[in-house]
Parts: sequence; C-alpha cells; structure tokens
Amino acid sequence: MKIIVTGGAGFLGSRVIRALLSDGAARGVPAFDSIVSVDLAPCPVEDARVRSVTGDIADPAFIRSLVDAETVGIYHLAAVLSGQSEEDFDLSLRVNVDGTRALLEAARATGRRPRFVFASSLAVFGGAMPEVVPETMALMPASSYGAQKAIGEILVNDYSRKGFVDGRVCRLPTIVVRPGKPNSAASSFASGIIREPLNGVASNCPVPPETRMWLSSPDTVVSNLVHALAVDGAAIGPWRVLNLPGICVTVAEMLASLERVGGAAPRALVTQRPEQRVIDIVCSWPGDFDVSRPLALGFTRDGDFDAVVRQYKDEFVR
Ligand SMILES: NC(=O)c1ccc[n+]([C@@H]2O[C@H](COP(=O)([O-])OP(=O)(O)OC[C@H]3O[C@@H](n4cnc5c(N)ncnc54)[C@H](O)[C@@H]3O)[C@@H](O)[C@H]2O)c1
Repeated sequence: MKIIVTGGAGFLGSRVIRALLSDGAARGVPAFDSIVSVDLAPCPVEDARVRSVTGDIADPAFIRSLVDAETVGIYHLAAVLSGQSEEDFDLSLRVNVDGTRALLEAARATGRRPRFVFASSLAVFGGAMPEVVPETMALMPASSYGAQKAIGEILVNDYSRKGFVDGRVCRLPTIVVRPGKPNSAASSFASGIIREPLNGVASNCPVPPETRMWLSSPDTVVSNLVHALAVDGAAIGPWRVLNLPGICVTVAEMLASLERVGGAAPRALVTQRPEQRVIDIVCSWPGDFDVSRPLALGFTRDGDFDAVVRQYKDEFVR
C-alpha cells in the first residue's frame, strides 16, 4: 500500500513525508509500506520506503502511471505559488487546475476511493470581509492563484460527493517562519521579516503594520496535514473544506515578538517600504477565522507568536 505526495520535494511535502514515516502509523493514517514523491525535483528524504519520481503533474499519462489500486492516500501539494501564478497565468492554470484534475481523475480510475488531502489557501477569499470569517464565507479570490485553489477545492468536494475520492481540503494559514530562502509566494515577506533579521540580514516589510495575518508554524501545519489524512471522512461531513486553525497576528505584533525574542538589533534591520504588488494580494486575505469545527475534529494551532519565533530561533539560528 502506498501514499502519493505531489510536491514531495517542496517545503511542506518533504516535511509531511518525514512526519508520515516517523509517526504516521501512531497518528492513525491508513497503513502504508511506501511513499511516492512526485515532483519536478528529486525528493530530499532519504529512506528505503520513499520512491522519488520526477515529472509534471499536469501530464495525465504520467500521473495515471503512478496512481493505482495500491494507493491508499494522496497528498496534493504541488503547485505554482501565488507570486509566480500572477506572473505566468498559463503555467499556473495548467499546473494548479489541469494538474489537480488529472490527479483526481487518476484517483477516480482506481475505483478505491483513496483519501485525498488538498492544500488550499486563504487566497480563495477576497473582497469585504467580516472580523472573523465564518465557514460559510463566499469565495471571492483576488488573484489567479486564489481562483485556481478555489476551483481545486470545489473539484475535490465534488469528487468526494460522487464517491470517487475521500477528500479533505485544508486551507492552510500563512506559514511562518519558513527556514531557508524567500520563495515566490506574495506572503514570503512574513517569514522574511523574522528569519532574515534573526540571521543578521536586513528585510523589508511591504504591507502596513496593522495588516492582520492568519499564521501557523511549519511544525503545526505539518502535524495538521498528517491528521488530515488520518481523520475519519464521515466525521468531516459532506462539505470537505476546512480552514486549518491558525493564530491572528498583526504585522506590528509580529515585529514586537521579533524584538522580544531576538532583541532590538534584529528589529532595527526591518524597513517598512510599501510594495503595491504584495499589498494587493496579501491585504485581500482575511486575518481571523471561526475554526470551531476543525478544532473539534482534532486539528491544533500554535500557542502564541513569540513561541513561533522561538521555535525558529532555537532550531535554525546559530
Ligand atoms: N507555505 C504556505 O504558507 C502555504 C500556504 C497556503 C497553501 N500552501 C500550499 O501548500 C502546498 C505546498 O506549498 P510549499 O510551501 O511546500 O511550496 P513549495 O514551492 O516548497 O513546494 C511546491 C512543490 O511543487 C512542485 N511543483 C511545481 N510545479 C510542479 C509540476 N508541474 N509538477 C510536479 N511538481 C511541481 C515544486 O517543484 C515544489 O517542490 C502548495 O499547494 C501551496 O499552494 C502553502
């Protein structure tokens, strides 16, 4: 039995694979003996149970060759991220929409109704928003990435309704602090304004300080993604979309945490120059959500933002 992870070479994919190997069984994910990473790049996880396959998820024949009756679970994490999607509409439509559909079709063709975890995003929202976003909030994406994730959500939900897959759509909070380098996501600065200064490097904050963000640490998101595969589909109910729990923090509060945990010198390395391209995307995202249903289903969130900064500092700052 196998679990397929698209985007298995990526930031979340490689971490999900490690987490499945270390405690997936104890967390109640379906029994598996191998994990197949499907990505344009080779999977960095070295383990005899992991097979790394490189290729394009938008190629239906390639995807069909990988998803078979042995497949008990699929994580669909491969995507063109928000910044690049805005710059290359055709590429993002092909990967984020055609790729998702190809994967769902391959899963359907197995006739085994595999569990299917899809990573969606706050970018599905836009327009006027209440202080706290309810589960019933209309989708009004203000970016191509958000529109493509919204299409993916609806497809996973309908393939679940039809009994083709057992879907679980996780709208991820913005993940902070991502170790490593900035990426092409419009929200990349949210990690950059903590990570770079803690490593003695200047960083710019492109959005106003009062901007509210819905955040989660990498460890918590990965733990929640493992839980998303383990949780009983019937308990989720017919609407398969979940806003994963996060914490609501303003950019000003993030910088205050940076100063409390890292000191005044890192805080002084953050400049505040507005960048309209980022403001247009990130400020259209909501900052707080009603997450009573996912919490009742056993999903979790971080304690506070100081703890998130400390998690990064203790693990990555030398
Ligand atoms: N990190 C966040 O803050 C965040 C927030 C919301 C949603 N998400 C979603 O979570 C998922 C994983 O994000 P991540 O942060 O790990 O991103 P990432 O860029 O590190 O990983 C994405 C992976 O997808 C692969 N990929 C891209 N196009 C592909 C293609 N055509 N065929 C095969 N592989 C392809 C890339 O090579 C990359 O390894 C994405 O779907 C993303 O939209 C992430």
